[in-house]
Amino acid sequence: MIDDIFRAELSGRKIFNDLTVLSPHYVPDTLPYREKEVKEVTRAIAPVLRNEKPNNLFIYGKTGTGKTCAVKYVAMKMLDFASGPENQNGAVVRIIYMNNRVRNTMYQVLLRCMEDPALNTSILNDRPLGDGTANKLVGTTPAGLYEKLQNVVQKNNINLIIILDEIDQIKKGLDDLMYMLTRINDEITSGHVSIIGISNDMRVKKRLDPRSRSTLCEEEKVFRPYNATELNEILQQRISSGFNKGVIDDSIISLISGYAAQDGDARYALRLLQKSGEVAQNEGADRVEVKDVERAKTAVEEDIMFEAISTLPEHQQIVIYSIADLALRGGAYRRLSGIPTGDLFTGEVYDAYEQNCKRLNRTPRTVRQFGDYLNELEMMGSITTRHSGKGIRGNTRLIRISYPPEEIKCIAKRNLNLDAESVSGSIAISLAGASSC
Ligand SMILES: Nc1ncnc2c1ncn2[C@@H]1O[C@H](COP(=O)(O)OP(=O)(O)OP(=O)(O)O)[C@@H](O)[C@H]1O
Ligand SMILES: [Mg+2]
Repeated sequence: MIDDIFRAELSGRKIFNDLTVLSPHYVPDTLPYREKEVKEVTRAIAPVLRNEKPNNLFIYGKTGTGKTCAVKYVAMKMLDFASGPENQNGAVVRIIYMNNRVRNTMYQVLLRCMEDPALNTSILNDRPLGDGTANKLVGTTPAGLYEKLQNVVQKNNINLIIILDEIDQIKKGLDDLMYMLTRINDEITSGHVSIIGISNDMRVKKRLDPRSRSTLCEEEKVFRPYNATELNEILQQRISSGFNKGVIDDSIISLISGYAAQDGDARYALRLLQKSGEVAQNEGADRVEVKDVERAKTAVEEDIMFEAISTLPEHQQIVIYSIADLALRGGAYRRLSGIPTGDLFTGEVYDAYEQNCKRLNRTPRTVRQFGDYLNELEMMGSITTRHSGKGIRGNTRLIRISYPPEEIKCIAKRNLNLDAESVSGSIAISLAGASSC
């Protein structure tokens, strides 16, 4: 038994050579098909080397188009250059990267800036900034943090670039944040702050008031999706160091890049590549084959869906939970028509949603908002909807879940912390499958 594990480990080596190059956080030495974008971002921030404020930059592009890795790549090159002998002006360049999925308020953004070693180290003034440790900063008012940031930038004549990745995740206060950053530049006489905002959701621009929009979008860059040929080369680059020689045929790479080209998403391509290798490895094989890719594809798509569901806002999770639960029990459509299509009436799903909200002590949202949630769930692919035509209940929207309802129910249930109690009445929550959750 133990020996089997050792054997499997050894056989695993047949497939992979270096897993680190397949990690989503790995930034390769070159970024194929992003040379132009890398140059443009570099050009945009280069004025800091002359102590000039660069334009703020807004980068938009669909998921997996290389926005984060291109910006990180340029940031690393800039910091290298600025700390080298060629920085004759002695420009002090500091770059702070943050993901706004985690730092999603203006306060958190400011806190992150002040906590960042880039601003806090002795390089600047031989001792930690201000009060010192990050812990001491917690509890400082936003105004206090703002003042500290302003002081440190001014005192040290810093060219500060703040990278706000997934900026669309700042749901409230984005206008205030833009305003604050503009104000810093108006108030200080040396040093400055500029922003690179990154998003895969173009709606973020619409959410901003016109003034903040023109602040953030002084310059804009769009990253377009990759095609199959481009994805192929991106995969080849990782395969050459990540996999052992001869483990993956060109036809397999084309299969993976073809699948990923549907959305032009390099992250998906890399994930499918790695998973295909794992499937082959778990089978003790020494090559990746088509069947491994097919199995990996199903697994990756399910993983992506489950991750997406886990990060949904609460009310959408209640909606998807209600849909999954009704689907498991068979909705009214099935009872009335006798056809086991898995279709659910919008009305019964809303009723179930209301009941589940009650159970969780939440106030149900209006039917209209509920309709928006359905649209969003449909957009992310977890449900499909269609109009019934003049059917059993007149013209209504029929909902069908796209993934195994047991698993979706399990995830939502865990996230919502729904206990095992059932409620009475016609929309009692079924506990079928609960034990496997
Ligand atoms: N041109 C490229 N060359 C090599 N690897 C790339 C390239 N573009 C993207 N990648 C890789 O693909 C993955 C996804 O890229 P990245 O995280 O930059 O996407 P993104 O545009 O920021 O997506 P999202 O909007 O979802 O955050 C990363 O592992 C990255 O290293
Ligand atoms: Mg990103």
